[in-house]
Amino acid sequence: MDVADRTQEFLARLDSGHKIEAEDWMPDAYRAELIRLIRLHGISEIMGTLPEKEWVPRAPTLYRKLALMAKVQDEAGHGQILIRVAEDLMAPLHQNREDIMADLFAGRQKFHNVFHMPVPTWADAGLIGWLVDGAAIITQGMLLSGSYAPYTRALRRIVEEEGFHIQHGESICMALAEGTPRQRAMFQDALTRWWPSLMMFFGPPERSAPGGAGAGSHQRANLRFRIRSKTNEELRQRYLTKYVPRIRALGFSIPDATLAQDPDTGAWTYQPPDWDLWRRIIGNGGPRSADRLELRRMSYVEGQWVRDLLSSTRKAV
Ligand SMILES: [Fe+2]
Ligand SMILES: [Fe+2]
Repeated sequence: MDVADRTQEFLARLDSGHKIEAEDWMPDAYRAELIRLIRLHGISEIMGTLPEKEWVPRAPTLYRKLALMAKVQDEAGHGQILIRVAEDLMAPLHQNREDIMADLFAGRQKFHNVFHMPVPTWADAGLIGWLVDGAAIITQGMLLSGSYAPYTRALRRIVEEEGFHIQHGESICMALAEGTPRQRAMFQDALTRWWPSLMMFFGPPERSAPGGAGAGSHQRANLRFRIRSKTNEELRQRYLTKYVPRIRALGFSIPDATLAQDPDTGAWTYQPPDWDLWRRIIGNGGPRSADRLELRRMSYVEGQWVRDLLSSTRKAV
């Protein structure tokens, strides 16, 4: 059987609900899409620890500090699990996690737009837990039914923990919402600054993809390979339906005068984010891209002796 026939048979198996394991045969394009997606997810978890860790020493109470430390630790663990899943897929290409890190430091490995942004107040730290992790769980909940079994197994644990992160973030935001006028103003200010980043979170709708390449073609390929079951726009609509009423119920205003829901279809219209700005941000042109990458690079260099020690111990055993 040639590759074209094998690919047809593979796609038919996916359509019948069959799940793929790491050692199964898979078309090169399927492997490439999975590697791209899981690397992006894993590195985003790791880079996502950096904005929140800025608030660990400054959390307002010991209870909040412990909860934030636990969340940051969870996110690093998610990165670790996901990079292992990616490494299994990369093994036939003779690549491993060191290649991922080298690509990150050379600007060839992207990470999520939200983690390039500043976190100037405690309200930002709470908002990340409530509204950024809230967005992440919408994407990851959809990916749970995907066709690649090792990724869905990893996601099951990750999604479980993300549920705690949302409760942690929501608790901080509720405390601010019920607080003094200054605390409410602090949350409103964070929401106003974060709203464009939240609208960018799910990526551009297919029609905005440049020249038919990029986000659009990856979305189509991932849908065909049953790695994902919803488009970026479907996820954004789901997010708006879930969170806009909650934000408004607390008396906060969303900085988009055009935001409206069709009462019959439930579809939202909104001010589209600046997708050129999104491309610049994920191309490491965001306000905090350079210093977060530098901090990650420094930690990686300083941790080299630990990796050396672990690999020499492993060889000795
Ligand atoms: Fe996570
Ligand atoms: Fe999280």
